[in-house]
Amino acid sequence: MAECLYDLFSILGVWNYQWHLGGTVASNCGSPGVTRWVISEMETLDQFLTARGVGSSIEGHTAQCPPESQRIRQLAQSSNAKRLMEIGFNAGHSAHALLNACPEATLVSFDIGEHAYGKIGKEFIDGTYPGRHTLVIGDSRDTIPRSDEEKVDFLFIDGGHALDVACTDIKNCKRLCGPDTVVVMDDVVTDNRAWETDWSRGPTAAWEAARAFGLIKHEGHEEYGLGRGVSWGKYVYE
Ligand SMILES: C[S@@+](CC[C@H](N)C(=O)[O-])C[C@H]1O[C@@H](n2cnc3c(N)ncnc32)[C@H](O)[C@@H]1O
Repeated sequence: MAECLYDLFSILGVWNYQWHLGGTVASNCGSPGVTRWVISEMETLDQFLTARGVGSSIEGHTAQCPPESQRIRQLAQSSNAKRLMEIGFNAGHSAHALLNACPEATLVSFDIGEHAYGKIGKEFIDGTYPGRHTLVIGDSRDTIPRSDEEKVDFLFIDGGHALDVACTDIKNCKRLCGPDTVVVMDDVVTDNRAWETDWSRGPTAAWEAARAFGLIKHEGHEEYGLGRGVSWGKYVYE
């Protein structure tokens, strides 16, 4: 029932708003005084990307906001995750943070593969964490339902930011999770309207609807700046 209502919301929400997001953005993190990476390994990934000719015009990512990156690492660690999953690999910054935070874990990332630099990020991740990372290329709306991955302990959703994609990702990932899986949704901004952005509206509405329709039990939320916030919780299994 919850999932049917959620589907309906997804359809009506898309009809209502037609948010089409994405593209190349330089995301801001408004936390005062934070200007450096907290995770020093990030410098290595960025250096690697720069050395391979990948400039600063890559899509927004979590390492641009150190407190957010730290929260995601802490949530993954607190879930004792052995199997990590993310939607949205981009250049590999969140993959790097997760694999670094959970040395015993493997990670599967799903990404549509629209950025050529993704291959370079993947090269870095494979070199740094041999045998621990799988990248599934394709639209998550197709690849997640077809995935035969074992159940994961930790899920980070940061793929397509349009409302219909965010809703579909939340709904489809339930099958690959269990009642103890920690689910983190990126770009949720609920508390400070001044921090709402084009790329936060879809994920925010999708998460709020998942809560309202009983698909997700919400456990926590933090906001950091313009378009920057995460919510986390667990799927509800009747
Ligand atoms: C914001 S970036 C992810 C950033 C990454 N999580 C990080 O923090 O380093 C979003 C990524 O989702 C991918 N994406 C967009 N739409 C998608 C879709 N429908 N299915 C899978 N991936 C998608 C984009 O190509 C991009 O690489």
